[in-house]
Amino acid sequence: MRTVPNVRSKLFRNAVVAGAVTAVAAATVAVLSAPAAQAATTLAGAAQESGRYYGTAVAAGRLSDSTYVGILNREFDMVTAENEMKLDATEPNQNQFTFTNADRIVNHAIGQGKRVRGHTLAWHSQQPGWMQRMEGSALRQAMLNHITRVATYYRGKIYAWDVVNEAFEDGSSGARRNSNLQRTGNDWIEAAFRAARSADPGAKLCYNDYNTDNWSHAKTQAVYRMVQDFKSRGVPIDCVGFQAHFNSGNPVPSNYHTTLQNFANLGVDVQITELDIEGSGTTQADQYRGVTQACLAVTRCTGITVWGIRDTDSWRASGTPLLFDGSGNKKPAYHAVLAALGGTTTTGPTTPPVTTTTPPTGSCTATYSEGQKWSDRFNGNVTVSGTNNWVVTVTLSSPQRIIATWNTSPTWDSTGLVMTARPNGNGNSFGFTVQHGGNWSWPRLSCRVG
Ligand code: G3I
Repeated sequence: MRTVPNVRSKLFRNAVVAGAVTAVAAATVAVLSAPAAQAATTLAGAAQESGRYYGTAVAAGRLSDSTYVGILNREFDMVTAENEMKLDATEPNQNQFTFTNADRIVNHAIGQGKRVRGHTLAWHSQQPGWMQRMEGSALRQAMLNHITRVATYYRGKIYAWDVVNEAFEDGSSGARRNSNLQRTGNDWIEAAFRAARSADPGAKLCYNDYNTDNWSHAKTQAVYRMVQDFKSRGVPIDCVGFQAHFNSGNPVPSNYHTTLQNFANLGVDVQITELDIEGSGTTQADQYRGVTQACLAVTRCTGITVWGIRDTDSWRASGTPLLFDGSGNKKPAYHAVLAALGGTTTTGPTTPPVTTTTPPTGSCTATYSEGQKWSDRFNGNVTVSGTNNWVVTVTLSSPQRIIATWNTSPTWDSTGLVMTARPNGNGNSFGFTVQHGGNWSWPRLSCRVG
């Protein structure tokens, strides 16, 4: 994943400052790093620092789960109904509209000062049975009626509508998906956008799709050409949503930032609308960080929504693709996202990185010295005195990662930020290489007798 600096984030500002002064005394570095201590401590708070939102999909059935609601209220400032605003939910019988479950979500969000993305007004999937059986002009009329009724009901309450969802084929054809809506005529998408604009003129109107993340893919190119055409002809489109459902078979592409930027250059906002990444640990955290940085690097990338809160809430729970585990604990991916957004849950080193502890059986001291530096990484050396039976803990500051070690056989904690080093027969000093990701802070050390 290509990483790109967020020129607007506190993190990047701090990193630039810290990077510029690595040659000066550690005490000076500590002073210049101090603003990080005031950084936001939630996803929404950190996203707001750069004028963006951080959202989640919400299921009405989980609003009675206090752990779920606690995380929702604390961490997110944008809400998408996971299923409750879809066609089968809101118009189960033709011209009989029901908004009970959607309202539970919308009212909860608005009551908590959050905004709402409307998902979705026109889609080949999750159509009610009566609509699935329709074709032609009757279906076109039914679709327009649905859009008008739903968007009018929620007029003024929705930040952005996913007006049309998933209208293009996967694969190399670049064609429209062959659906009953497509068979009503190729202009069905622009007709949908016009109806939505009339019904809810204040909302942003988005086209939303998946497998549109890789700039070189035919589907991405096809959607791009449609948006370009709509903009040139005055079809009312304001934004493009990138669902961003990733896994090992469909990883975050290295040109993701290029894709987002090229769409933004058409004069639309771009948003990551259904983010989830299967995996765990630092691998998953790295991918989440990359997606976050790609959005932050594009001025018109206005926000990110993850597709659920805890892994167990996910439509693909077995892939543990979200930011909180089943118990509601923050995962490494959460910390990676928060740090990339410029927020923090821990402060950087504010004292010289030399710490001595005195356990009952003796004491030891670990002393850090700088090694060679490169643009993307630096070496650190640790010398231990006091005992041959030492255990040194090396704590990094996100997004740093240790990518090599020598003269020790380390173990790691689950975040990948804390390395525990012990002697491996090569004496009382060891070293490591830190890939700094823009954060030049010295690692913090502590030593105990093992
Ligand atoms: O609520 C019923 C339950 O009563 C019934 O017993 C059960 C039996 O199948 O189904 C339950 O409904 C399921 C619903 O999720 C709620 O859990 C549906 O079957 C199931 O199809 C539905 O799946 C949703 C899927 O869209 C449908 O296409 C997922 O929750 C939802 O996360 C997923 O979201 C989509 C986005 O809208 C568009 N982009 C892709 C994304 C992931 O597929």
